[in-house]
Amino acid sequence: MRYQRHIFICENMRDPEDPRGCCGRKGGADVRARFKAALKERGLKGTIRANAAGCLDACQYGVSAVVYPDCVWYGGLTVDDVDEIIESHFIGDVPVERLLIADRRYTPDSLTFGPGEPDGA
Ligand code: FES
Repeated sequence: MRYQRHIFICENMRDPEDPRGCCGRKGGADVRARFKAALKERGLKGTIRANAAGCLDACQYGVSAVVYPDCVWYGGLTVDDVDEIIESHFIGDVPVERLLIADRRYTPDSLTFGPGEPDGA
């Protein structure tokens, strides 16, 4: 298998006056650069791919990112969150709950806990 996971990190740039804001002006490129470096440091470069994305339609939560095939959405990311996502989610298979986009249209409750451990089970 070429990659087990992809994380798409929004780097979209809008005019500073645009009321929607954008992840590009909140550090999206820095977050992606940290993912790339941190994945390489851990020998995961060929297993997990950190891709730049255009707008993911989650602008109000930016810096936004989505992990596939998990369908887990993160919001408000900073470079300081990257290592925790890699350790907990990518290596430990437990998404980082505090960083999930709270709107459950993005990440369903059933996907926010470790494998076989739904909330309250
Ligand atoms: S600008 Fe990043 S999700 Fe829209």
